[in-house]
Amino acid sequence: MKIVVIGGTGLIGSKVVEKLRAHGHEALPASPNSGVNTLTGEGLAEALAGAQVVIDVSNSPSFADDDVMEFFTTSTRNLLAAETEAGVIHHLALSIVGSDGLPNSGYMRAKVAQERLIRDGDVPFTIIHATQFFEFVRGIADQATKDGVITVSTGAVQPIAAEDVATAVARGAVAEPAGDVEIAGPEKFGMDHFVTTALGHFGDERAIIRDPDALYFDTVIDEHSLVPADGAATLYGITLDAWLAQQD
Ligand SMILES: NC(=O)c1ccc[n+]([C@@H]2O[C@H](COP(=O)([O-])OP(=O)(O)OC[C@H]3O[C@@H](n4cnc5c(N)ncnc54)[C@H](OP(=O)(O)O)[C@@H]3O)[C@@H](O)[C@H]2O)c1
Repeated sequence: MKIVVIGGTGLIGSKVVEKLRAHGHEALPASPNSGVNTLTGEGLAEALAGAQVVIDVSNSPSFADDDVMEFFTTSTRNLLAAETEAGVIHHLALSIVGSDGLPNSGYMRAKVAQERLIRDGDVPFTIIHATQFFEFVRGIADQATKDGVITVSTGAVQPIAAEDVATAVARGAVAEPAGDVEIAGPEKFGMDHFVTTALGHFGDERAIIRDPDALYFDTVIDEHSLVPADGAATLYGITLDAWLAQQD
């Protein structure tokens, strides 16, 4: 089966391409580096010719509110139109658990807009809502850093390894379109615990302040904002400790 992976050079995309190829599929990584640009439409028709499935694991190069909204809406419109033209029978995109409950975050608003376009479109779809990737922990710390001090939320997270996300995406792409589904890691704890544990392991010596009102990408998060409801998600196995041990 020919499967086009938009964002196939990225963190998740490169692992998805590897897994699909290992299972005998023709996985084509597509991104600006290989002449395919979903924002401008460049190279899309050629890449999608003969494809049955398109996976979208691309990400906006800029997280500024207007840029990220423009990226996910224009890219998704271009992609869905090209898929209809090419006769693609399954569009799979990666989004975030809790995206629709955090309207103060420009990034979440853009992901919700992306999801809406997919649901309202003509191509049968799967939207996998994942929790935060372990690999994203430095990004979380950096956006919470001011004057060298990290002020991090105590709200709950249930992070997942990129390896497990890629497994879920690759499995989802070769299955029937499933609508909206959720995936998460095996353990739930505070974002403060996540950041403190990982940065401690990496020898990052920034001071950390725990604050329930600290902003996470412009929004306050609580015990429920970023984690799936009990029983709602498929849970994957790699723990934070196991992932940290793999980073040495
Ligand atoms: N970070 C998290 O914790 C988290 C949690 C849940 C869901 N997600 C979602 O996961 C997805 C993938 O994230 P990631 O961390 O794997 O991304 P990433 O490593 O930043 O990779 C981004 C990919 O997008 C491609 N891209 C950029 N501009 C493009 C364009 N105009 N046309 C086509 N492709 C373009 C890049 O291609 P080049 O290499 O050619 O530049 C790259 O392959 C995102 O949609 C994100 O919202 C993230």
